[in-house]
Amino acid sequence: MTHSRPTRVLVTGGAGFLGSHLCDRLLADGCDVICADNFFTGTRENVLHLRDQPRFELLRHDVTFPLYVEVDQIYNLACPASPVHYQHDPVQTTKTSVHGAINMLGLAKRLSVPILQASTSEVYGDPQVHPQTEDYWGHVNPVGVRSCYDEGKRCAETLFFDYRRQLGLSIKVARIFNTYGPRMHPHDGRVVSSFVVAALQGLPITVYGDGSQTRSFCYVDDLIEGLRRLMATPDAVTGPINLGNPDEFSVLELAEQVLELTGSKSELRFAALPSDDPVRRRPDVSLARRELGWEPRTPLAAGLALTIDYFDDLLRREG
Ligand SMILES: NC(=O)c1ccc[n+]([C@@H]2O[C@H](COP(=O)([O-])OP(=O)(O)OC[C@H]3O[C@@H](n4cnc5c(N)ncnc54)[C@H](O)[C@@H]3O)[C@@H](O)[C@H]2O)c1
Repeated sequence: MTHSRPTRVLVTGGAGFLGSHLCDRLLADGCDVICADNFFTGTRENVLHLRDQPRFELLRHDVTFPLYVEVDQIYNLACPASPVHYQHDPVQTTKTSVHGAINMLGLAKRLSVPILQASTSEVYGDPQVHPQTEDYWGHVNPVGVRSCYDEGKRCAETLFFDYRRQLGLSIKVARIFNTYGPRMHPHDGRVVSSFVVAALQGLPITVYGDGSQTRSFCYVDDLIEGLRRLMATPDAVTGPINLGNPDEFSVLELAEQVLELTGSKSELRFAALPSDDPVRRRPDVSLARRELGWEPRTPLAAGLALTIDYFDDLLRREG
């Protein structure tokens, strides 16, 4: 009698916001998980609850260096994702995307295993097409302050597709749009975490511009489901494929919802728009619907309520 062994999965950036939820999900699905992270923006706390799981292993590792482990699948999520973090050391950000992709693709090639890249809606830059479909090539400033992230991620996509064309690797590229939920970094300057933390602390909520710029917010569980479905597709499905929530809200509407759900009396303050901040961003998820049978299910109010609970608890613990 043969026993099938669990699928062994490497998650780079596994101690981060999305990575830690992916580790949870993979373990729940019966996989063995190696989580590799250099803890730049991720924390041990994000995966502390997995410490005693025999199927979970945490490695301190920087993906700009090669890694040799034996696995059956790779999810490459390592990269700081918010402007405050990726602009902190922009050269390192590009290295993480580009050298990280080369190292993880090299590992995937050596092992002949599928590899999924956490790409981003930022590859579309400040888009001139709404909503964005995967065949839109983007409108990206190559020399601005966001370029280390945007161009790094674009180059990583190029590498993924060249490894596919040149070496026949099984690749999956997900273009992730704004995702939120528990375990976001409380001080990453991202709009959901910033608004929720300010509201809970009764501090002013800073809205950039007049708040009419729109965003689409995907709840983390929906996103992770999309990544799992993408990894499970046949070899011919490579992406790039948008994953995000197509419901569009203005930043001002988000602020108002956060105020309502927290019951906070925080005032709204308006400040100048940061450089290269996109005016509108909304995914077209028709391809994900068609190829993955996927679409987001969590309404903004429900996801925000869970996120608010998390930050409320975190802020109480931090005193
Ligand atoms: N959350 C979103 O809305 C969103 C949107 C688009 C794309 N993404 C992508 O998804 C991935 C995860 O994002 P997140 O929101 O969880 O951010 P995060 O900052 O919480 O997670 C990134 C993780 O990567 C780790 N990391 C950074 N540099 C590393 C390196 N050189 N070596 C090893 N680990 C390193 C960090 O410590 C962190 O744990 C990123 O690649 C990001 O670009 C996220």
